[in-house]
Amino acid sequence: MREFILYSRKGRTDGKIKSLREAGRLDVVQECIIASLFLSHDIRRDTIFHAFLYGPPMPPLHLKVHGGFLRDVRTDQQTWGEIFRRVLSGKSHPGIIVEKRSFESLLRELPKEAKIFVLEEGGTDVFEVDFGEHPIFVLGDHIGLPRKVEGFALRYGEKISLGKKPYLAASCITVLNYLLDRLERNKCEGERRV
Ligand SMILES: C[S@@+](CC[C@H](N)C(=O)[O-])C[C@H]1O[C@@H](n2cnc3c(N)ncnc32)[C@H](O)[C@@H]1O
Repeated sequence: MREFILYSRKGRTDGKIKSLREAGRLDVVQECIIASLFLSHDIRRDTIFHAFLYGPPMPPLHLKVHGGFLRDVRTDQQTWGEIFRRVLSGKSHPGIIVEKRSFESLLRELPKEAKIFVLEEGGTDVFEVDFGEHPIFVLGDHIGLPRKVEGFALRYGEKISLGKKPYLAASCITVLNYLLDRLERNKCEGERRV
């Protein structure tokens, strides 16, 4: 299992959305959902994406997208605009849950075996990290993680870095998925050789 958590400082918390970009940069949330869960012609069934929306009118909201149950989706912004409008107006969509919940409360209740990694340019090099069986990655949006939130997350995990260049949050997720896919493949090949 792998999970990605995006902290969205401005993401709108109702269905009154004209454009994703103007709704507190919900376009960044959509890009991160695609990077977390989509392969070409397939969905990563073992992956969960979370966004914490802290924009108006009623923050915080927890938007959880579970790859194992996600149905009736495509990757384009128009499709996700319609999905956001529905689920943020209280309607349902398979694989998506919206609830009133804070980032801190989720972190307090994560399973013990999960390892939490806070993505930050100044962290430990990603190649020196043992991800374990259930890594959970915390990322900031286009502005970055608020300092207080980062401090809270670091009570539960460690900072890791993809290098000194500031990447888009969605690009970080793509890189992490690729690295984890490689590690899984190498582990399977190693086991077959033994
Ligand atoms: C677009 S960046 C935010 C950049 C923003 N200017 C800042 O000061 O944080 C969004 C998120 O991607 C992650 N990120 C970007 N580049 C990274 C890197 N080189 N290593 C680790 N995480 C990175 C961080 O979690 C960051 O909050």
